[in-house]
Amino acid sequence: MNCLLKVIHSLLLKTDPEWAHELTLRALEIGLYKRDTETDNPCLKTNIMGLQFPNPIGIAAGFDKDARVYNAVQDVGFGFSEVGTLTPRPQSGNIKPRVIRLPKDKALINRLGFNNCGHDTAHHRLIQRKPSGILGINIGANKDTTEKAIDYTTGIKRFYSLADYFMINISSPNTPGLRDLQSPEQLSVLLRQINDIRDRCADKYGRFVPIAIKLAPEIAYSDMLGIVDKIVSHNIDAIAVSNTTISRPSNLKTKLVEENGGLSGQPLFQRSTVVLARIHKHVNGTIPLIGIGGINSGESAQAKIEAGASLIQLYTGLIYGGLPVLKQIKSQLVRATQKASLAQLKELTGTNADTWASLPLD
Ligand code: FNR
Repeated sequence: MNCLLKVIHSLLLKTDPEWAHELTLRALEIGLYKRDTETDNPCLKTNIMGLQFPNPIGIAAGFDKDARVYNAVQDVGFGFSEVGTLTPRPQSGNIKPRVIRLPKDKALINRLGFNNCGHDTAHHRLIQRKPSGILGINIGANKDTTEKAIDYTTGIKRFYSLADYFMINISSPNTPGLRDLQSPEQLSVLLRQINDIRDRCADKYGRFVPIAIKLAPEIAYSDMLGIVDKIVSHNIDAIAVSNTTISRPSNLKTKLVEENGGLSGQPLFQRSTVVLARIHKHVNGTIPLIGIGGINSGESAQAKIEAGASLIQLYTGLIYGGLPVLKQIKSQLVRATQKASLAQLKELTGTNADTWASLPLD
């Protein structure tokens, strides 16, 4: 990072987390960022869910909740963007403070509660500024919706002509009842409705939009395999592992047991990677996995891929490390591919899943 950027980054880390985030978004909106003009090494290219990614590194949901900077995110070097979580109606989320930094742990706790501009505003923005690369749309349910499944089908219908893929978020810990959709009975109903609406939209628009499901990292192992089998049997196109965790690993340096919300960043790495590896072993290549949680360096990105990820996403690692983290990750992934004498990074996917799957969650 050059000197000025280092100063700006350390100042941002001293301001209120939500305000720091808003300033970052505004800088990206007005083009105040350094474009990545280097072409990605061809070994990073990957084809997942029928989509051709220039590199497998994306920004995780929650960074661009309102679809404001999806093109800028790719200008700085990410291989794809994901906007949202978007709910049908706008909502303001939980009362502040609702994002807490844990600098000693390189982590965050957030209980934002799907604050977002709603479908109409996001749809308008996406129409106004055409996405320049791969765009994922992460959809969720309003807090006060009683029939939550309907909010997901509404989202698919609304954004079908604009999305390259959908991410179905049923794993945020900050919307009461949302995670219940992961229960086997509710999940079956939801997946049927999602497939139904996708089939109808595919007929209407003459194109197939892949769908991924994002899971929580706390699902008990005994339930997990059943959930994964259901997802596979409903022809879903990818599984994302994972969202934030409500668990608090015992080795957290910051003692914040009284703060509710989802923990992200470094302390989530082990749990999310172990769960990812266990799912990878179970599905045995029948469905691609998107690895999320605690990636903050080239090494952690490589480990996530070796544990089973075909694509990776990060958020908290960027808050603490800034954009240089993205460059480090790309360099490390190219080095790892060359060191293993492979033509493509994707050949490293799952090569260390056995080891990761055998580790404890925390
Ligand atoms: C998130 N995350 C998230 N996920 C999601 O599916 N929809 C969302 O709206 C949000 N919002 C959100 C806000 C904030 C402030 C954070 C830190 C995270 C979860 C995110 O996409 C990711 O799954 C986790 O943060 C784990 O990745 P990192 O942050 O450890 O790289």
